[in-house]
Amino acid sequence: MPHRRNRGPEAPTLAPLDDVGLRQLIRQATDPALLESMCWSRPFDADDPAQVAAFVEAISLHVLPESKPTSPVLLGIHVPSRPWPIGYVAFKGGNPALGSYEIGVAMVDPVQRSRGYGRPAITAAVDYAFGRLAAQRLWAAVLTTNRPSINLGRRLGFRVRERLPASWPMPSGSLADMLWLEQTHTDWSARRTPSGTSR
Ligand SMILES: CC(C)(COP(=O)(O)OP(=O)(O)OC[C@H]1O[C@@H](n2cnc3c(N)ncnc32)[C@H](O)[C@@H]1OP(=O)(O)O)[C@@H](O)C(=O)NCCC(=O)NCCS
Repeated sequence: MPHRRNRGPEAPTLAPLDDVGLRQLIRQATDPALLESMCWSRPFDADDPAQVAAFVEAISLHVLPESKPTSPVLLGIHVPSRPWPIGYVAFKGGNPALGSYEIGVAMVDPVQRSRGYGRPAITAAVDYAFGRLAAQRLWAAVLTTNRPSINLGRRLGFRVRERLPASWPMPSGSLADMLWLEQTHTDWSARRTPSGTSR
């Protein structure tokens, strides 16, 4: 799909993900490009409670060495013209001793992907982590093949902390290479302009 930038008035907002929103997300999460980038072998069934639980487990999966099995914080990404969330943000694997979280993001609705919502949504999510969650560092684990996400992370100031070979379990049973990206509260604060927008 060609990349179309959205610079209209529909700024995305974040809100806690409730059960109805969660099921609507699952119903939208069926396109092959999403399944591939999330390493999901098949879509989840929103009408099967076990599959709903499996979806929550999948988006809450933390994979980095210093992450801990703490409760995730799940937010929906909303735009005014849609009644349901078009994507989600997950803060997971929180390590209280380090003030760290892993962030996972997906624009689940394929129609809304690559339209310019991802960048402001992730910016709002990073603000949320360093503000509401009082995080000190935010990590992202991204497959080395997911160039758009790596490029977006870098443009938002995430740095490559480490390359982790053969570390991401794929649906086929093999292990893929991933990058450990990091953003610190200090660096994020330094990137913010006086007007509150990210450079
Ligand atoms: C990563 C993701 C959340 C970004 O959301 P989005 O709405 O597509 O992002 P945007 O439209 O705001 O684009 C953000 C950047 O991504 C890049 N991008 C987005 N879609 C692209 C496409 N189809 N081709 C190439 N680059 C693309 C652009 O470089 C853009 O940068 P810019 O703002 O400087 O133009 C979304 O693409 C997604 O859900 N991908 C699948 C799941 C995933 O990979 N999650 C991250 C790993 S956990």
